[in-house]
Amino acid sequence: MLRYWTAGESHGKTLLALVDGFPAGVTIDTDAIDAELKRRQGGYGRGGRQRIETDRVDVRTGIWKGKSLGSPIALEVVNRDYKLEQLDDLPRPRPGHGDLTGAIKYLGSIRGVLERASARETAVRVAAGALAKQLLATFDINVFGYVTELGGEKIEAVDGTLEELRTIRDKSEIYGLNLDRDAPIKELIDRAGKDGDTLGGIIEVRVDGVPFGLGTHAQWDTKLDGRLAQAVMAVQAIKGVEIGLGFEAARRPGSQVHDPIQYDESLRDTPMLGYVRPTNNAGGIEAGMTNGQPIIIRAAMKPISTLAKPLASINLETKEPEEASYERSDVCAVSAASVIIESVVAFEVARAFVDKFGGDSLQEIEARYKQFQEMAAKR
Ligand SMILES: Cc1cc2nc3c(=O)[nH]c(=O)nc-3n(C[C@H](O)[C@H](O)[C@H](O)COP(=O)(O)O)c2cc1C
Repeated sequence: MLRYWTAGESHGKTLLALVDGFPAGVTIDTDAIDAELKRRQGGYGRGGRQRIETDRVDVRTGIWKGKSLGSPIALEVVNRDYKLEQLDDLPRPRPGHGDLTGAIKYLGSIRGVLERASARETAVRVAAGALAKQLLATFDINVFGYVTELGGEKIEAVDGTLEELRTIRDKSEIYGLNLDRDAPIKELIDRAGKDGDTLGGIIEVRVDGVPFGLGTHAQWDTKLDGRLAQAVMAVQAIKGVEIGLGFEAARRPGSQVHDPIQYDESLRDTPMLGYVRPTNNAGGIEAGMTNGQPIIIRAAMKPISTLAKPLASINLETKEPEEASYERSDVCAVSAASVIIESVVAFEVARAFVDKFGGDSLQEIEARYKQFQEMAAKR
């Protein structure tokens, strides 16, 4: 089973991901992992921390001569801003963080909780996701994340091929698919920053080239929609997840929701095996299994909790009302979150892919994938 864990504190010595069950024989490009780490550090509205850190991955185990060995892969991103031993505790819990609850639950400090709850940890989730993307790319499966809404303002995507849209996203300072929207959205972020406030937004990820049958209908914890939702919801500050039409499906009659099934022989050799759906309201998943259409998943990110103009809180010692503590913070991290959501989605899709076509090596998976496509095309 492909899986991973992370370790590390925000201002601790280092961040680690341990990836287990990654097949042997996959060529690993560490520059491509670093490029994703760099994207996670970018996006308009980030705070001072990103100027201190220049994240680079150090692949500590599991790779030999540029290829995975099939043994556990330890990924490390060292914190340049290591200063945990010098940091004091926070006296006043910040609303929207785990500060109050964590201090009570662990009968300890706020610092001890915030250091791990911080989204700094997602650097190594992005590194693990970048490994997964390299496995998926071998099978022409492409994971692509972008921002569709920020601070309540929509960022309507322009028309274009996947490649054209990727170029636009990579030029955009807000990681949107419409460069005309950059300037007004950046202004919105600047205004929020000046007001001591913060902004959230909506992220969409699409996965193209997905074959039929990833995930299962058979057991609740192996349904792919469930696994994706858990992975996305478990990203800091994500408060909602939708697949396909999502909540909008609840507002429409069935005739305007479910995707008709058609057949086009000329598409038989594609991942959709010729089964064409004129719409993709299901977002590529029916009954917990991929249906040959692109996976479409959206995440709602709340505004950053730490406000430069702090909210009301109390002093934990005196219980007297005081303003919440302030820690150096982002005004908006929706763009960065789009990289994280892209990464965790990639990992779950890769996990389901290895579950379905698994084997110890890439060669075995390739053979099984090819055989399945041939058998399924005859079904
Ligand atoms: C990319 C990213 C960057 C974040 N940066 C900050 C930040 O600078 N300041 C902050 O207060 N919260 C930040 N957050 C959000 C907090 O980590 C998160 O709200 C907090 O840990 C509480 O968890 P919850 O919102 O999931 O309940 C960030 C989240 C993400 C995804």
